Amino acid sequence: MIEKIQALMNEVGSLTANDEKTLEVLRIKYLSKKGLLNDLMSEFRSVPNEQKREIGQRINELKTSLQDKLNELRANLSQQEEDYSDLDLTRTAYPIKLGTRHPLSIVKNEIINIFSNLGFALADGPEVEDDWHVFSSMNFAEDHPARDMQDTFFVEQKPDIVLRTHTSSIQARVMENSRPPIRVICPGRVYRNEAISARAHCFFHQVEGLYIDKDVSFTDLKQVLLTFAREMFGADTKIRLRPSYFPFTEPSAEMDISCNICGGTGCSFCKHTGWVEILGCGMVDPNVLEANGIDSTIYKGYAFGMGVERITNLKYQVKDLRLFSENDIRFLEEFESAN
Ligand code: DAH
Repeated sequence: MIEKIQALMNEVGSLTANDEKTLEVLRIKYLSKKGLLNDLMSEFRSVPNEQKREIGQRINELKTSLQDKLNELRANLSQQEEDYSDLDLTRTAYPIKLGTRHPLSIVKNEIINIFSNLGFALADGPEVEDDWHVFSSMNFAEDHPARDMQDTFFVEQKPDIVLRTHTSSIQARVMENSRPPIRVICPGRVYRNEAISARAHCFFHQVEGLYIDKDVSFTDLKQVLLTFAREMFGADTKIRLRPSYFPFTEPSAEMDISCNICGGTGCSFCKHTGWVEILGCGMVDPNVLEANGIDSTIYKGYAFGMGVERITNLKYQVKDLRLFSENDIRFLEEFESAN
C-alpha cells in the first residue's frame, strides 16, 4: 500500500491543466467520492493496526499535496483569464468605425436622385449580354470597330455573347419589355478591352437615359441635361452641345459643361479650354425604335449616356482611375463625409 501511495505522490508533481475542464477531470479522478484517495481510505480500514499510523500519515500527506496542487492549478488558470497584456486599454470604445460608401456609389446615387426627381424610373440589364442587345439592336453596322475583339471582351462566339461595352444595351431590354411612354435611367458596369492605366480601365460605370413618347424634341433633351448639370455641379454651370456621331442616335451630340474645377477660366483638367466633356446624347435613331418593335412614325425619343468615373473625377478630382478599384482604405476614407 505504501508503494501505491508513493506512486500517486509522484504523479502529483506532474499534473497540469490548461482549462477548467481538465482541472475538473483531475479533481474527480483524485478527490471525489469515487476518486483514488477515497479508494485508499477504504483500503486503509483493513490495514493492520501497527501500520495504521504510518500509512495514515502518508495518506494525509498525499491528500494535502493533491489539494495544494489542484489549488495551484486553479490559481494559474484564473490568472491566465485575467491576462490583459494583449489588450490595448488605451483604445477608445467609441466611435465605432463604420465603412464608407464608395465614391462611385455616392455619385451614381446622386445621378439617380436627380433623374428620379425628373420622373425617370430605374431599369437594369445583364452584364453578360448577347450581340443583339449590345450592338445589332443599337444600329451598329456589321463591321463597326466596337464589335472587334480588340475593343470587346467575348465570352462566346457564334452566336456572340460579350461583356456589355455600354449600358445602351439596357435601352433594348427596356424597349422589348415595355411600351411608350418610356422614361428610364439605367446605371451599370461596362467592360472594354483596354490596357489599364491612370486614364483607362477594362471596366467602368455608366448611366444610360432613355425617354420615348410622342412629340419628344431635342429641346426636351437639352433642358433635361441642363437641369442635370446644374443639380450636379452647381447652379451657375453652363452646358454646350457639340455635334457628334453614335450609331443609335441621330442627330447625336456630346455635351460639355463649363469646367467646375477652374470655373471655366482654363486649367490643366480642362486642357485650358474651360470646358469638359461629360456625356453623349441624341435623338433615338428610328432604326433603333423599329428594331425594338416601336413604331417610329408615332414615337420619338432621346437618349444619353454618361460615365460615372468621369463625373466623379470632376466632382472629387481623382487623378488616377485605378484608385476606384484598388480598395485602398486611405482613399475610400476620404469620402467619409460625402455620404
Ligand atoms: N453608349 C455610348 C458610349 O458608351 C454613350 C452614349 C452616347 C449613350 C449617346 C447614349 C447616347 O444613349 O445617346 O460611349
